[in-house]
Formats: sequence, C-alpha cells, structure tokens
Amino acid sequence: MDCIKIFAPATVANVSCGFDAMGFALETLGDEMEFSRNNSGVVTISKIEGADLPMESANNVAGFVAQAMLEDAKANFGVDIQITKKYKPGSGLGSSAASSAGAAFAINQLLGNQYSMVDLVRFSMLGEELACGSRIADNVSAAIFGGFVLIRSYEPLDVISIPTPKELFVTVLHPQIELKTADGRKVLPSKVPLKKAVAQWANVGGLISGLHSNDYGLIGRSLEDVIVEPARKLFIPHFDLVKESVLKNGALGAGISGSGPSIFALSKGEAQARIVAKTMDETYCNKGLEYNIYVSKIGDSGTRIIE
Ligand code: HSE
Repeated sequence: MDCIKIFAPATVANVSCGFDAMGFALETLGDEMEFSRNNSGVVTISKIEGADLPMESANNVAGFVAQAMLEDAKANFGVDIQITKKYKPGSGLGSSAASSAGAAFAINQLLGNQYSMVDLVRFSMLGEELACGSRIADNVSAAIFGGFVLIRSYEPLDVISIPTPKELFVTVLHPQIELKTADGRKVLPSKVPLKKAVAQWANVGGLISGLHSNDYGLIGRSLEDVIVEPARKLFIPHFDLVKESVLKNGALGAGISGSGPSIFALSKGEAQARIVAKTMDETYCNKGLEYNIYVSKIGDSGTRIIE
C-alpha cells in the first residue's frame, strides 16, 4: 500500500466523571487525512486545510507521531501527509487527538499492520504530549477504538472498550473560543477530598454499569463531575445556564467536553438530541458569541480507511 486516506473522529473525553480515564467517539465529525509513501526517508506535511497549524512535521502532532513510528519500525521510506480538519483546534473535541490517532493508524497500515491498537494509542499519546504537555490517553483511545473507552490503567496501558447503547446520541455546543488543554490542566485541583473522590469513582462505576446494561437513567445520573467541572466551567461562557436548560429539556446529563470550551449532552434517541440542540441554540443565540452545534450518534468505529 503506497497511499491511504483515513477518517479520524472527534472525541469527547472525561465524560464528566471519568477525568483522563473515559472518552467516546463521534460518528462523522473529525479529520480527513491522506498519507503517501515516498522514497524521501522523511515525514513532510504538504497541506493543512481548516486550521492554522504548524507545517513543520516535528511541530505538528501528525508529523511527530508518524516520524516516531517510522523510526521505531526502522522503516526505510518517507511519508507525505495532507490534513483536512473539519473542526477547530482548542475545541475540547480532541482535535490534536484525531490528528495523532489518524497518523498512528495510517502509518501502521503503510507498515503492514505491525502494531496493536494499544500500541497505536501509545504512539498517539506522543502527539498529545506535544500538543498539551501531558501524555493523555482518553481522546486518542476513543479516536482509535471508537465507541466508549475506559483507560483502566496508564502504566501499563490498559484500554477497555465499553459497549454503547444503541439509542445513545450526543449533542455538542462548541462556542468559538479557544481553550488550550495545557491551560485547562493548570486549574486542576492538586488535592481531592476523600468525600469527593468517593462520589467521583461511584459515578464512574455507575456510568460503566449503565452503558453495559442500556440503563439510560443510570447513565444520566452518573454524568456528574464534582472535581474538575467546578474549576473549569468558569472559563466557559454560560456553562451553568446551558447545562440547566438541556437537563430541563430532556437531556440525560451534560458536562464539559474534554477541557472545554465545548459542552456535551447525552440523550436517548436522535429526536431528543435534536431538542437538546434547539435548547442549546436558544440559550446561546443572543449571547454575542459564535458557536456550532453538532448532533451525533456515538461513533461505533474509530479511525478508519475511507479510500
Ligand atoms: N482528559 C483531558 C483533560 C482531555 O480533561 O485535560 C483533554 O481534552
């Protein structure tokens, strides 16, 4: 294989209670990327559409991950990358993760599939480190595996696929402001009172159980983050108002997508997810901020070949 075109999905990390440990993929929002094998021996980026990102491969997460994999595999070829981003970086929807995961997946294909899915997560985490200074696995795991994932352990890396109830939909409000994950991590509490830790891990258990048993009510009750959301919501305009409005209008639960500014809400069924989208729109339309709203089924498949 000399040339491959892939799609890498946008992702929602944390899923409220699962900070750095849970995530899920969207169905059709994400990056499209083309990788062409050549004899240059180096990684180049010849096109980036849809975002203002570094063209030098060492400073671009996709280029960086690709280079790391080619070196690890002692490959004797080079690769040119073209990236089309369908949503903006700094959205809280795993933009750098999509590019990193896309590169890891595609380079593995060009190498003849020698790495496992968990290896691809590990390589993609190098891109996350370049983008925000931390080797986070939640967005990249969801982008690679699709569906819901749990990072049960970072060392050793243990990524678990969690089943997705068929009627689960997400609605995302993306205010067009940029919040850098690195900044969102600076406001994290350094200590957590035991009572809050108990509430948080009980909710993670509830969420995992609800996803396994198709218990939409339990999923909704478990979407509660008593540790990170209180610190981060201050940077998201009208967060409380949006959350309150969508819960009143039938969402199962809502929270910050990754480190924000996007706000996500889960619903049972597409019709309900569209009511939530309308509620988000009505809540935000007179606030003087630009925004996008997406409705998506949870994306069962992660990064995949499209041509
Ligand atoms: N778990 C990470 C965080 C995801 O919340 O900082 C970054 O999108």
